[in-house]
Amino acid sequence: MSRITSAEIDSIYDSRGRPTVEATIVLESGARGRAGAPSGASTGAHEVAAFPPGGVPEAIRTFRARVAPALLGLDAADRAAIDGRLHELDGTPSFGHLGGNTATAVSVASAIAYAEEIGVPLWKVLARPHVDGRVFPAIVGNCLNGGRHAIGGPDIQEFIAFAESARPEESVAAAIRVHGLIGEELHRRFPKLALGRGDEGGWVAPLGNLEAVELLTEVCARVRDETHLSVHPGLDLAASEFFVEGKYRYKEQTLDPAGQVGFVEHLVDRFGLRYLEDPFDQEAFDDFAALTRSVGGRTLVVGDDLYVTNAERLAQGIEQGSSNAVLIKVNQVGTLTDTLRTVDLADASGLATVTSHRSGEVPEGWLAHVAVGTAARGLKCGVLGGERVAKLNELLRLGRATGR
Ligand code: PGA
Ligand code: ZN
Repeated sequence: MSRITSAEIDSIYDSRGRPTVEATIVLESGARGRAGAPSGASTGAHEVAAFPPGGVPEAIRTFRARVAPALLGLDAADRAAIDGRLHELDGTPSFGHLGGNTATAVSVASAIAYAEEIGVPLWKVLARPHVDGRVFPAIVGNCLNGGRHAIGGPDIQEFIAFAESARPEESVAAAIRVHGLIGEELHRRFPKLALGRGDEGGWVAPLGNLEAVELLTEVCARVRDETHLSVHPGLDLAASEFFVEGKYRYKEQTLDPAGQVGFVEHLVDRFGLRYLEDPFDQEAFDDFAALTRSVGGRTLVVGDDLYVTNAERLAQGIEQGSSNAVLIKVNQVGTLTDTLRTVDLADASGLATVTSHRSGEVPEGWLAHVAVGTAARGLKCGVLGGERVAKLNELLRLGRATGR
C-alpha cells in the first residue's frame, strides 16, 4: 500500500502574479509529488470555487486544520478514496469550503507521488483503458489575445492555431511558427506601437475581430504551405463575457442570439475554422446545438464555460447535441476523479476532449500527462511564456519517450 505520510499545502504565485496553492504529498516509501493549481479570469458561472471566501490564507488554514490529518494513511493508489475524502471534508457541491484549487493540487500531487513510487510516468497512472500513450494531441495554440486576457485588443478572447501531427515535435513547432509570424506581421503593420502579449502569451494589438481572424488565417495558410501539416485557424470567443442583457455586444456590432448563430457560421465558412470554443453564452445549449448541426461536420464545436468539465452539464449537452467536443480543465470541477468521469462520458458518447490550461497558470508540465493519458484530441496550453512552454516541452518529452 502506498500510504500517505505527509500532506502539505503552501502559497505560490500564478503567471499573473496572483497567489494560488501547491500541494506536496509524501508516501511511506519516500516518494513525493508536488503540484500547483492554476486560476481562470473568464471563469464559468458553474465552476467550483477556486478558493474559499477568505482566499488562499483561508484555504491553507482549513487544509492544515482539517484536511491534512484526514489524508494521512490513505492509499495514494486509490484515487477515488482521496478525492472522495476531499468531497466529504468540503461538504458543499462547489468546493466552497476547501477551495477547488486545494482539491486539484492534492489530487494531482497524490497521482504524481504514486506514479513516482511505482516508477511510471504520470500519464500511465491517469490512462483510460483504451489509451496506450502513443496518440498525441493537436496543439491548440493561442496566438492573439483579446477579451478579458488583453486590454485594448479584440472582443474575441483567443485567436488560435490548431496544429495537428502524429509527432508533437512538428505540431508544437508549427504553433510556435504561427505565433512568430503573427508577431512579425504586427510589427510591420504597427512599427511605432509598443506591442505586447496577453495573459496567455498571445499577441495584443489594436485589431478588430475580423482583422484579427484574417491575419490568423493568412498566417496559418503560410505555415501549412511551409510545413505540409494540418494548421488551421480557430477561435475561443468566450462569448459569455460579452453577452449582456440577451445580446452579444461586440465593439463593432450587437447581435441577438439568432444573429450570433449566423455570424459564427459565416466565420466558419469564410475562414475555414477548425476549432470553435464557447461561441455562445454558457446557458445557450440550444444555440450550441443549432451550430453543431450546421457546422459540426467540419469544425470542432467545444464547450468550455458551457460544461465547466462537469459530467452532469456535459450529459445535458450530449442529450441536446450541443457540441462535438468538450474542454477539460481539472480545477473547474476540482479533482482528477471528477475530471476523468467527464472524460469517460465524452469518450463513451463520441465527443472529442481538449485538455486545457487556465489563463493564470503555474510553470509545471503535468497537464501534458492529462492530455496523453486521456488521448485528448487537443492540448490547449498557449504557445509562449514559461508557464505555457513548460507543458509543450513536457509533451515533447513524452513524444520522444515513444520514439516520436
Ligand atoms: P480562463 O479562460 O481565464 O477562465 O482560464 C480561458 C478560456 O476561456 O479558455
Ligand atoms: Zn474558453
